[in-house]
Amino acid sequence: MNTVALESSNIVETYRSKTRESAALSEDAAAQFPSGITHDSRHVRPYGVFVEKAVGSHKWDVDGNEYIDYFGGHGALLLGHGRPEVLAAIHEALDEGTHFGASHPRELAWARVIQRLVPTADRIRFTSSGTEATHLALRLARAFTGRSKIVRFLSNFHGWHDHMTSGYTSHYDGSPTSGVLESVASSIALVPPGDIDAVRTVLEQDKDIAAVILEPTGSSFGMVPIPEGFLEALREVTAKHGVLLIFDEVVTGFRVSPGGAQSHFNIKPDLTALAKILAGGLPGAAVVGGREILDALDFDAAPASGREKIQHQGTYNANPASAAAGAAALSIIESTDACKRANDYAERLRGRLNQIFVEEQVQWAAYGTFSGFHVFTNPMKRVIDPEKFDAASVDWKEIKSNPPGVSDRLRLAMLINGVDITGWPGGTISAAHDEADLDKTVDAFRESLRMLRSEDVI
Ligand SMILES: Cc1ncc(COP(=O)(O)O)c(C=O)c1O
Repeated sequence: MNTVALESSNIVETYRSKTRESAALSEDAAAQFPSGITHDSRHVRPYGVFVEKAVGSHKWDVDGNEYIDYFGGHGALLLGHGRPEVLAAIHEALDEGTHFGASHPRELAWARVIQRLVPTADRIRFTSSGTEATHLALRLARAFTGRSKIVRFLSNFHGWHDHMTSGYTSHYDGSPTSGVLESVASSIALVPPGDIDAVRTVLEQDKDIAAVILEPTGSSFGMVPIPEGFLEALREVTAKHGVLLIFDEVVTGFRVSPGGAQSHFNIKPDLTALAKILAGGLPGAAVVGGREILDALDFDAAPASGREKIQHQGTYNANPASAAAGAAALSIIESTDACKRANDYAERLRGRLNQIFVEEQVQWAAYGTFSGFHVFTNPMKRVIDPEKFDAASVDWKEIKSNPPGVSDRLRLAMLINGVDITGWPGGTISAAHDEADLDKTVDAFRESLRMLRSEDVI
C-alpha cells in the first residue's frame, strides 16, 4: 500500500480515528525501534495496535477496543490467553525465584510431560527460542553424521538464524541474504516444497548432506500444502542415505495433536525442534530426539564414543517460570480435547468464510489444515470456486503472495470490525475460541470485504 493510497482511504481514516492512543505510542516507538516494532511479523501500515490486556480468545488495545485474537501469541497460545491453571503455575514459580543458575525440579516435570506426549522425545535439550532450537538441531545433525550440508524447502520458515534466511521469502536461488556469509548460505541446499524427486536427486548426488529439515504440515502451518505420502517418502529416502530427518514442530507441536505432527502422521523424525506451545506462552524451546544423537551434548557419552562434545549454553534454558508454564499447559493439552476443539473450530471457520466469499462474489478462498486458516487472495485473478479451492494446485510462490495493498487493508478493516488476523492473511485458533467468536468473525469478514470493495481494493 503506498502513502497516497493510505491517506485517501476511508478504512485507514476510520482505523486512525479508533486507535488514537496506539497512533501516539507508535510515534514514540518509531523513535526507538526500527519501523517501530520488535518482530518483523508485527509490521502493519500505517501502524499496529498497542495491546494492553488479553483474556481467553480476546484482547484489548490501549484505546479500549476489543478484538477476537487470531494471532494467538504467534501461535504459542493453544489454550488462549491467561488460562488460569497456567497463570497459577507461573505465579507459584515466580514466588520461589526467577533463576537459580542450577538444575531444578520444574524442568524435570516439564520434560516428563514432553516425553509422554512426543513419541521421539527420548532425550531433551531446552533452549530459549525456536530459532535456537533449529540452530542446535543443525549442529547436532552435523556432529552426528560428520557431514556439513542441510537440505531445506523453499518457503519453509525455521527462525531467523543465518542458515534459515535464504529461500524463505527471497533469495530463492540460495544466495546469502544481507548480513549472512556466503559460506553459510552455500551449506544449504534449497529444494521446492513437497518435491520428493528433488530431494532424491540431491541426496543421490551429494554425499555431504547431514539433514533435511521441514515444517511437517507444509510451510507456514500449511499455507503451502505438501502432497499426501510426502512425509513417508521423505522418511524413507533420508534413512536410505543416512541423512537425519528434522521436523520443525515449533508451530505444529502440541497443536496438530497432543503429540504434534509426528504423532498424527505416525512418522518418526530423528530430531524435532519444539517451541511456542511447549512453554505455555513464556519463552522456551527444545530439541528432542534419539539418545545416540543428543549424546553429543553429554560430557561423558560424547568422548566415550570417540566424539567431541558439542557446545551448548544458554542463560535462560529451562527457566523455572517457563518450565512451570510449559508443564501446566502441556498437562492440560494431555488431559483435555484442546487440540481437537481448535481443529474443529478452524474447519468450521474455513467453511463459513468460503460461504461468504461465494455470497459476496469474492474470488478468494479460505483453506488450511488443523487449527490454522489461510486466505488465498488470488493475486493472478484466477477463476475459482472458493468451496472447492485446492491450494495444492497453485504454485507456492503465487500462494504466498497477495495483490498489492490487499493484506494490509484487510488487516485494518478486520481490526475496525473487532478481529485481529495475521498479515499473511490468516490465523491460528485456540481452544478458547467459541461459537460467538465464530459468528462475529464471519460477520467481520463480510463487513471487511464490503469495505474493501467500496475502495476498489477487490
Ligand atoms: C516453524 C517455525 N520454526 C521456527 C520458528 C522460530 O521460533 P522463535 O520465534 O521462537 O525463534 C518459528 C517462529 O514463528 C516457526 O514458525
